Amino acid sequence: MQTMIAPSVLAADFGHLADEIETINRSEADWIHLDVMDGVFVPNLSFGFPVMEAIAKITTKPLDVHLMVVEPEKFLPRVKDLGAMFMNVHLEACRHLHRTLQSIREAGIRPAVTLNPATPVELLTEVINDVDMVLLMSVNPGFGGQPFIEHTTAKVRQLRKLITESGAKTLIEVDGGINLVTGAELRRAGADVLVSGSAIFHSPDPIDMIHRFKAL
Ligand code: DX5
Ligand code: ZN
Repeated sequence: MQTMIAPSVLAADFGHLADEIETINRSEADWIHLDVMDGVFVPNLSFGFPVMEAIAKITTKPLDVHLMVVEPEKFLPRVKDLGAMFMNVHLEACRHLHRTLQSIREAGIRPAVTLNPATPVELLTEVINDVDMVLLMSVNPGFGGQPFIEHTTAKVRQLRKLITESGAKTLIEVDGGINLVTGAELRRAGADVLVSGSAIFHSPDPIDMIHRFKAL
């Protein structure tokens, strides 16, 4: 399968957000990745539904919503109204992860579970058949532009093994510090989807950068 790319809007120029989204529309990007932060689950704030609704109106790409918030299930109706394709909830933020994943699926959204760098892949054993995607964080969530945590590559290999052994069709997405070098490493380890903020939006030619990511 070809590398899938989800540019993270967090690194976009918010003063020219519509132009940034149009650029992604013209690119080979597969999805658009939206990072929501609440200042509680992570020590930062980003944007919320008004901004995502504006993006949803302009983008031609499916929305990959990454909720870095406590009690993410509270926002399910709003995420559904957005028309999101994926709703990523953090395992560390869900008291009843299985119930939350079921509710997401019942709402007609593809459920995805996200793991922080310190959370082991083994904790997914009981839910791997209930999720369409696992998002492995390769930085501590909350900020763009951080360096890639090398150990993530080993986690991708472990996760690939778990998925193969359980006969699941779960996609593996990785997020944080991804450039062409770390991206190539992750692809070799078995990642399907790469999220990238700074490497794409801070590049002089984001469309070309996405094209180069697609070739990994
Ligand atoms: C971090 C976010 C990431 C971030 C990635 O909390 O989840 O999606 O935007 O940005 P880069 O690619 O700059 O590490
Ligand atoms: Zn993210």
